[in-house]
Amino acid sequence: MTLALPVISDQMSPPSAPAQRGESSELVDSHGRVIRDLRVSVTDRCNFRCVYCLDPDARFMSKQEVLTAGQMLQVVEAAVELGVRKVRVTGGEPTLHPELGKIVAGIAELGVNDIALTTNGSLLDEHMANALKSAGLTRVTVSLDTLREDRSRKITRVEAAPERAIEAVRCAQRAGLGPNKMNCVVVRGVNEDEVGDLAELGRELGVEVRFIEFMPLDSGKRWDRGQVVSADEILGAIGQRFPLAPVGREDAHATAQRYRFTDGAPGSVGVIASVTRAFCGACSRLRLTADGKIRPCLFSAREWDIRPALRAGAGREEIRKFLIDATWTKQAGHGIGDATFTPPDRHMAAIGG
Ligand code: 5AD
Ligand code: SF4
Repeated sequence: MTLALPVISDQMSPPSAPAQRGESSELVDSHGRVIRDLRVSVTDRCNFRCVYCLDPDARFMSKQEVLTAGQMLQVVEAAVELGVRKVRVTGGEPTLHPELGKIVAGIAELGVNDIALTTNGSLLDEHMANALKSAGLTRVTVSLDTLREDRSRKITRVEAAPERAIEAVRCAQRAGLGPNKMNCVVVRGVNEDEVGDLAELGRELGVEVRFIEFMPLDSGKRWDRGQVVSADEILGAIGQRFPLAPVGREDAHATAQRYRFTDGAPGSVGVIASVTRAFCGACSRLRLTADGKIRPCLFSAREWDIRPALRAGAGREEIRKFLIDATWTKQAGHGIGDATFTPPDRHMAAIGG
């Protein structure tokens, strides 16, 4: 049994960063990494219960706990003033948020020209894709772990037809969003035999399919290393069917290592090897949860509660200082391989992918 460390979020504000940082115009951590990428989880709710993420009886935040759209945008605004260039809107399932369009439009108005949405695709139809595109969304990443109906039921624990997620990608493509991607979490004994078929789907749709190593972020805390299918193994299996050549990362801070098909087919393969090839050293990410916690890392045991300040009517200066201080506390890495590693108390849906 693992004993989870309590998340220390009762501390309202992070300790002050060294004075010279406090006056900074950028978000820099104590390891010298600069934040350019903000991930905003707009809701922790989800209409799926994926086995690697949410337990069927997971409890969600009450409406009173969640930030208003305006408060989320205040944080994004401060982050943008401090050098954030890319915003990813996540959940839970962000399309369940009744004001998603307003949030996206608000982010776009701040001058952010790279706004991505991570979604399970269940609600992303033609209408929503067009509306989000008009609001200023740039691209989407749709999660799909299997092409088989029966397996999809087992993984998501709801009636989620794989065809719906595929259609969601098509709707996004038709709406002019892009480059769109697909996310596939590979879990041993669950779907590792489908990586080739999913790569083939990427070729057909002309999108990047990103295979993610299973991370210890499931709400049931049942993760164990034996269930992790390594990026090497994934690439090996795909490469046997469709020879691959590396094309490097999108940029130095990107999570995925990318590969193209050597036969020139459209689409590509990405691997997010968070466990076997940790990329923490180049991390440029900061997270805001739906209930107003600033999380410097997916695996942070410490998170900083900006909600009281927002509710008390904090001004721009105060929010900026909060982000600067919180960023300074960003840990060096996730330490999944360490003997002392303890998974965070929050599961993925409550953190935002
Ligand atoms: N390990 C790896 N990826 C995960 N996701 C959710 N839980 C986990 C986990 N335990 C993925 C989802 C989604 C993204 C936001 O994070 O599949 O694509
Ligand atoms: Fe929902 Fe995404 Fe978690 Fe699945 S992985 S339960 S779709 S938040």
